[in-house]
Amino acid sequence: MFAIVTVAQAPQSTQSGVSAAAGGRIYPAPTNLKALPRTMTGEQVHEVMEQWESQLGVHCNTCHAADPNNLAPNGRPRLNYADDSKPEKATARMMFSMTEEINRSYVSKVEGSGIPVTCGTCHRGHFGPVPFVPES
Ligand code: HEC
Ligand code: HEC
Repeated sequence: MFAIVTVAQAPQSTQSGVSAAAGGRIYPAPTNLKALPRTMTGEQVHEVMEQWESQLGVHCNTCHAADPNNLAPNGRPRLNYADDSKPEKATARMMFSMTEEINRSYVSKVEGSGIPVTCGTCHRGHFGPVPFVPES
């Protein structure tokens, strides 16, 4: 069994596989998950993405490539979230697996442990973690 400990749980999807948030936004079912559990709904994936965005201090387009053939009404290309062409996306997948492994194999074995490691534990709002410099 794959225990996902670093992401929050979200409501179940509808039968269609498409989930809608309270605000009425539609999140299509993901088609290309290789690191997150494939059972996650579009809304659950979206929640994780917003966490990564704030924990790394970046935006969606840091990891997701624009699709020049899919223009929004304002003329700007939409992002193709299933596309794997950006190396940052591959790194993020590896980082997610690493974080899960840290929690599953180590942190969860500390007696009374209740604080899982997240992206933010190391990144603290920065894309490249800032080296720790102790106060003298
Ligand atoms: C730090 C990199 C990173 C950032 C920032 C990021 N994503 Fe992602 N995103 C990923 C990775 C990696 C995956 C694939 C996960 C997997 O393989 O299980 C993914 C998958 C997705 C998917 C599922 C695509 C599919 O069909 O499989 C959606 C939708 C998505 N992201 C939306 C967003 C949105 C919206 C934002 C901004 C709020 C965002 N992402 C920010 C790395 C990122
Ligand atoms: C145990 C600490 C740690 C955790 C936890 C961690 N990271 Fe990282 N991450 C690093 C370090 C250190 C680097 C910098 C490697 C380098 O560039 O030298 C890095 C680099 C990255 C990069 C590449 C940045 C670049 O400059 O290209 C991405 C993307 C990334 N992390 C995403 C994530 C995501 C998403 C998570 C959570 C799922 C996460 N990381 C969790 C330590 C961590």
